Amino acid sequence: MSTEYSNLAVDFCGIKSPNPFWLASAPPTDKAYNVIRAFEAGWGGVVWKTLGEDPPAVNVSSRYSAIYGKNREVIGFNNIELITDRSLDINLREITAVKEAWPDRAIVVSLMLPCEEHYWADILPKVEATGADGIELNFGCPHGMPERGMGAAVGQVPEYVGMVTAWCKKHSRLPVIVKLTPNITDIRHPARAAKSGGADAVSLINTINSITSIDLERMVALPTVGSASTHGGYCGTAVKPIALNMVAEIARDPETRGLPISGIGGINNWRDAAEFIALGAGCVQVCTAAMLHGFRIVEEMKDGLSRWMETQGYRTIEEFRGRAVPNTTDWKYLDMNFKTIAHISQADCIGCGKCHVACEDTSHQAVARLVDEATGKRTYEVIDSECVGCNLCEITCPVQGCITMVPQQTGKAYMNWTQDPRNPRAEQVPTAA
Ligand SMILES: Cc1cc2nc3c(=O)[nH]c(=O)nc-3n(C[C@H](O)[C@H](O)[C@H](O)COP(=O)(O)O)c2cc1C
Repeated sequence: MSTEYSNLAVDFCGIKSPNPFWLASAPPTDKAYNVIRAFEAGWGGVVWKTLGEDPPAVNVSSRYSAIYGKNREVIGFNNIELITDRSLDINLREITAVKEAWPDRAIVVSLMLPCEEHYWADILPKVEATGADGIELNFGCPHGMPERGMGAAVGQVPEYVGMVTAWCKKHSRLPVIVKLTPNITDIRHPARAAKSGGADAVSLINTINSITSIDLERMVALPTVGSASTHGGYCGTAVKPIALNMVAEIARDPETRGLPISGIGGINNWRDAAEFIALGAGCVQVCTAAMLHGFRIVEEMKDGLSRWMETQGYRTIEEFRGRAVPNTTDWKYLDMNFKTIAHISQADCIGCGKCHVACEDTSHQAVARLVDEATGKRTYEVIDSECVGCNLCEITCPVQGCITMVPQQTGKAYMNWTQDPRNPRAEQVPTAA
């Protein structure tokens, strides 16, 4: 049996869960066998793999492709799978049985149906009868289903998002979580539409349209189905920055402020989860990391998050949820007078010169290369007066901690761009972030 931590319990839009770690709607939550093993491993909840109409969807072979790092670690993951390919009846029976056996865990049922009210009116009472805790509307699947007028085809039109959400609120008493597609210019619009349709929460992100690579011998993208391919949905580590930004956009939008958010996208460990929570997420969902490493990753997630919270003095998730939101602002409110410059620790420097090359070739010529005439030894030093504090040298340095960015005492007061005399359109407005 898995360990539980009293400081991790959450109540997400009325759905109680012993910890904020849920498995996202995907193969890990496709059947009772998986979900039971996930609960045994300690996951706080699951969003059951998306249910749809009967007869169920039919999948192709093959289905996945990936982008790898140097040591073949998977950085990005791409899939062309559809929603569940198991019958509605089997899924509903399994959900009922698992919920009965695991009453303390959250089970949310993901749904995707055509944009006609009767489909939703028909399925919602069946889902409610399983004892599930909530529903998630899959308005995000970017491949296959949009061609049939569902998934991202709905999520990309705020009016449809609001309309279907309102149908679900009308035909069900369960909390409605609207899962958003990132394949849209401004994530705030569908989030606002979800809220005005009565959504209890939003979850994001679903996968991003992608082609990961081309087989240059066969001249076809991966994954290959016979001799052809199609775009898929990108997820895993690589998408976390996109997801974090979209979560922040919704968390700080005055029109959706306070709307519960379930954070999804590239979460691998407790720190990733803490970042989503700091930007306002009330719980998080994980797919790719579990698919690559198995269900037991949740042990490190729970243990790490709980311990970190203790060191920070946070007794509950709610105590630090959203703490980074007020510090996430528009560019125009950043302090023009803040200055930081790089410092190279000579004791740690291995003399590779990467910082010099990067700064010399592409940036500010602020890292000098000094050659000892007697020994030929090269050393590197920052020219303080030329350094703009861009972080590039620190990013290129292979030795962690060797180059640090040091904030300078400028003696100047905070001044943002709206107040800056160099701004030809300075508004001279009071600062407000
Ligand atoms: C193979 C696969 C199948 C997926 N199927 C669904 C699905 O049926 N419904 C859904 O809402 N999202 C589906 N997703 C998207 C995930 O739930 C999640 O939003 C996305 O993968 C981002 O999270 P991650 O970076 O932790 O993987 C699927 C993802 C993958 C990789």
